[in-house]
Amino acid sequence: MTQRILLITSSLFGEGGQSRALAESFKAALAGHDVELTERDVVEQALPHLTGAEMTSWMTDPAERSAEQTELARHSDALLAEIEANDVLVLAVPLYNLGIPSQLKAWFDRILRAGKTFQYTANGPVGLLEGKSGLILAARGGMYAGSDMDSQTPHLKHMLGLIGIKEVHTIYAEGLNMGDERKQQSLKEARQAIAQYVESRF
Ligand SMILES: Cc1cc2nc3c(=O)[nH]c(=O)nc-3n(C[C@H](O)[C@H](O)[C@H](O)COP(=O)(O)O)c2cc1C
Repeated sequence: MTQRILLITSSLFGEGGQSRALAESFKAALAGHDVELTERDVVEQALPHLTGAEMTSWMTDPAERSAEQTELARHSDALLAEIEANDVLVLAVPLYNLGIPSQLKAWFDRILRAGKTFQYTANGPVGLLEGKSGLILAARGGMYAGSDMDSQTPHLKHMLGLIGIKEVHTIYAEGLNMGDERKQQSLKEARQAIAQYVESRF
């Protein structure tokens, strides 16, 4: 059965970004596989910061929304529909100041939505998205994977887990600002890992 993939890119440097290069390797590896790819660049199509007014629009019955609230709710509703329509969520993510790009955070702020993608219960929050998996392609100037300094991958996995995406694989290209030799080696290993992931998954 055709697997539907949503690829989210988030580099400040567009096609010049290393995380975008990982995304391009991923796309190239998909050739010949039975997949349908949807792409969204959250920097090119940047969302504004989430506001109280926008959150209030979500909590207002669609029939009761003002024209302004209807417009505000469109951001989140469209992004939720996009996620729901796909089986695999791929995030190509640069490490900026030990975290995710603020544009990607603005995207997560629209999809982590109580009552839609997760719900609070007596036992804590429960994710409402079912049958989806995730892949993180992480590009970093330094080396953090597996250490306490990696505040990014756990954060991404917690956000994905909150909405029910618990099966998440991560491929790192680290040390990209630690000399050309290390950079080329890291990118080569990441490309190999991406090819292996695609072959085993699709
Ligand atoms: C604003 C900014 C902040 C960065 N902060 C970090 C950082 O905290 N740790 C790190 O290892 N690299 C950091 N880097 C380096 C990037 O992680 C690295 O250049 C990576 O290739 C970025 O992905 P991109 O090329 O797709 O944008 C930073 C780069 C920028 C532009």
